[in-house]
Amino acid sequence: EIYRASTYAPVNIAVIKYWGKRDTKLNLPTNSSLSVTLSQDDLRTHTTASCSPAFPADTLTLNGSPQDISGARTQACLRELRHLRQSVEEQDPNTPKLSTMKLNITSGNNFPTAAGLASSAAGFAALVRAIADLYHLPATPTELSRIARQGSGSACRSLFGGYVAWQQGTHPDGSDSLAYEVAPASHWPDMRAVILVASAEKKDVSSTAGMQQTVATSALFQHRAENVVPQRIKAMEAAVHGRDFAAFAQLTTRDSNNFHACCADTDPPIFYMNDTSRAAVRMCEAINSSAGEVVCAYTFDAGPNAVVYYLAEHEDVVAGTFKALLGGLSGWEGKRGGAVKTAES
Ligand code: DP6
Repeated sequence: EIYRASTYAPVNIAVIKYWGKRDTKLNLPTNSSLSVTLSQDDLRTHTTASCSPAFPADTLTLNGSPQDISGARTQACLRELRHLRQSVEEQDPNTPKLSTMKLNITSGNNFPTAAGLASSAAGFAALVRAIADLYHLPATPTELSRIARQGSGSACRSLFGGYVAWQQGTHPDGSDSLAYEVAPASHWPDMRAVILVASAEKKDVSSTAGMQQTVATSALFQHRAENVVPQRIKAMEAAVHGRDFAAFAQLTTRDSNNFHACCADTDPPIFYMNDTSRAAVRMCEAINSSAGEVVCAYTFDAGPNAVVYYLAEHEDVVAGTFKALLGGLSGWEGKRGGAVKTAES
């Protein structure tokens, strides 16, 4: 007998960035963060989890190739999920003992995994929810975020659609370091995102390693975590609640620049943005100034690719301008995504 469940989890792109951990084992962050979940029609991971008394070992397959499942992060997620399943089995002795069976997990991304497009976020969110569904766990997305966070910090935000905050929490065990919904996608349904792929190559410095170097060496980062981000989280929540695009855009671009300034302040310095990235920054500024209002906002994660947020009414001027330019900027490729739909299993 084989038990099975499948789910999708979309990519999320932070507008107030997570960078820095106070606990590297539990992925507990030094500051809260806030993101927009992209539509699962665009960039997402699809995962099927199955278990059976006949399976000889836990296995994980990504885009058709077998993956190492023994990593501490994946193991932490499996351990937590099996533990929750055990409680379900203890409460109902007639329920099958799925927690004792081996798991086979198969995942597929509909975007290039190595392209630095937040694949770990969607990947761990989908893994955790697929197993939670398989186990019929009575857990809310916020409860599951505690587990997905241990896979990859940013993954905790991909359990929700729309506008999502990850509160840093204060407890050493991470029990209050959780994601919650700031607003559903339907609250601001005309939000759009275009992803400009400057390079699909794997990044030189992984976010996990880079953020630890920053924590260890950057004084600017201390200032960011203590004095900059807390106010920005509040202001960003207000901008989302009030659907204030100009405020959303200013906070987004400033936070991206502040994060990359902290990377440059790291010893040795880390550079994720390149000349192509900086051309996208200039292009956004030019689009805004010729529009006479703020119509687009850029943000960069730990790589050179730009994510540009805009409202549907400015599709032509923003996405259109970038599209027209893509041919001129060698190596660019556009991918459109909407910030729509709540991820549902
Ligand atoms: C720049 O979540 O990939 O994208 O917790 O070590 O897996 P780990 O790091 P990860 O870092 C993401 C960093 C970021 C900003 C963000 O998504 O908030």
